[in-house]
Amino acid sequence: MDFYKNIQKIKNMDDMLVLVNKNYILDENYIPNDLEEINHKYAKEEKLLRKTAKEHFEKLAEVASQYGYYIKIVSAYRSYNYQDNLYHYYVKDKGLIYADNCSARPGHSEHQTGLSFDVEGSNHDYNLFEESKEFKWMSKNAHKFGFIMRYPKGKEHITGFKYEPWHYRYVGIKVATLLYKQNLTLEEYKKKS
Ligand code: DAL
Ligand code: ZN
Repeated sequence: MDFYKNIQKIKNMDDMLVLVNKNYILDENYIPNDLEEINHKYAKEEKLLRKTAKEHFEKLAEVASQYGYYIKIVSAYRSYNYQDNLYHYYVKDKGLIYADNCSARPGHSEHQTGLSFDVEGSNHDYNLFEESKEFKWMSKNAHKFGFIMRYPKGKEHITGFKYEPWHYRYVGIKVATLLYKQNLTLEEYKKKS
């Protein structure tokens, strides 16, 4: 993949299956019109997701909590400007190569769709999510609620980002289950369909 080359403007920005990555860019002014605040039980401070994603996440977190798991959103919808600042913070602090590996340039972040979020588990550090018991539960169950782990290990050459065990994306239960069972990224799925 030629990342950040031949960049195409996304036309179907409101589509639940919208593909946002290093080759597809969202409009600077795009803000989903159905953002809702996530129940504070399951999010740190005020966090927003699109209505459907929010409802499915709250269901997931509720079921998880019944089994004794603690799953909280630490980042969800991010505006174009917020992402711009975040990305440039990484560039300034760690350099361009590091930044491009872990942070999307503005317009290229799924967080701007309101369909993506980052979680922490009971060890209270999203960076260490993989070491938590919640990680194992999420890995096996997230698809049942319509979510996929968006940046899996071993698919970095396809997604363009380093492995992010904490970052999930809503695609609906049917597609999430298919991607889970076939071990596919959203890029691979979109290419097929
Ligand atoms: N960390 C993900 C790739 C983002 O910045 O959207
Ligand atoms: Zn994320």
